[in-house]
Amino acid sequence: MPIRFDDHVAIVTGAGGGLGRAYALALASRGARVVVNDLGVSSDGTGSSDAATQVVEEISAAGGQAMANGADVADYDQVTELVAGAKERWGGVHILINNAGVLRDKTFAKMDPADFEFVVRVHLLGSAFVTKACWDGFRDQNYGRVLMTASSSGLFGNFGQANYAAAKMGVVGLAKTLHLEGARHDIRVNTIAPTAGTRMTQGLLPDQAFDAFSPERVTPAALFLVSRDAPSGQIVGAGAGVVQASYVTLTPGVALSDDDLTPDAVADHWGAIASREREIIPTSGGEQAMLIGRTLADAGRPFA
Ligand code: NAI
Repeated sequence: MPIRFDDHVAIVTGAGGGLGRAYALALASRGARVVVNDLGVSSDGTGSSDAATQVVEEISAAGGQAMANGADVADYDQVTELVAGAKERWGGVHILINNAGVLRDKTFAKMDPADFEFVVRVHLLGSAFVTKACWDGFRDQNYGRVLMTASSSGLFGNFGQANYAAAKMGVVGLAKTLHLEGARHDIRVNTIAPTAGTRMTQGLLPDQAFDAFSPERVTPAALFLVSRDAPSGQIVGAGAGVVQASYVTLTPGVALSDDDLTPDAVADHWGAIASREREIIPTSGGEQAMLIGRTLADAGRPFA
């Protein structure tokens, strides 16, 4: 059976264009009722337009159901109204794709602290606020699917994007923790790191790549990650039809004895400490201490 979203209400933030628009159209075409949220700003978060309304018209013209919403995801009061409006009209919310985003790129040396704060507010606090406004509803109905939007810039770093990268890695930590807290209520929380030709990447991707990296080629991964049988706690890369998995890992490390616990000894053992042989993919923070215990035990010095 193809994946369907009948009887599901989905909120897609920043869905007035680019990736969010593609997600909203695809969800609606598979039966979801979609709240198309967008503040209608330019890439740097200034200006305004009725982008959300246009996408709602596209969905309606294709026979789908959608409503437009112009809330600023970084404003918690507006966000609670957004969620309340969806519940009032359609009775609940089942899927949330946190996708809204802005850029204010500059090298860290030249970056204004206000631009750092603004970008973190929209991406990280925006994602936390909309998710928080949905959270009690997800818990009460024992069902929720949340997709956070990270970026290769956050996962791996990117020159000139300190603010954006910090915010994008922040949503990974948010997703990993909400994955743990939501599990008991069948709330699944994943993260997508897309690469797509949108206004955000215009001029960065060469023309030919821009077309190959269409938003529509990211959409299948996003829809899978908010489907009934989605995994949870995953970080998924997607672009140009390629779907990837990304991991945060930990090496077992080296146990240094108290006699040898010096910066010099860390330097001497750096090769072994950084070796990826026997690395693990922790599934929660507590596993770091557990792995430390195992490394000590392997060195003949268990905790106890
Ligand atoms: P886009 O600029 O076309 O879409 C972002 C949308 O968010 C815009 O329509 C904008 O009006 C809206 N928005 C901005 N601030 C908002 C706010 N405070 N409240 C509500 N809506 C707001 O860009 P694109 O490429 O579609 O990006 C979508 C998401 O994917 C973003 O989070 C972006 O950081 C992320 N991303 C995109 C990549 C790409 O290759 N295009 C790469 C990695 C991540």
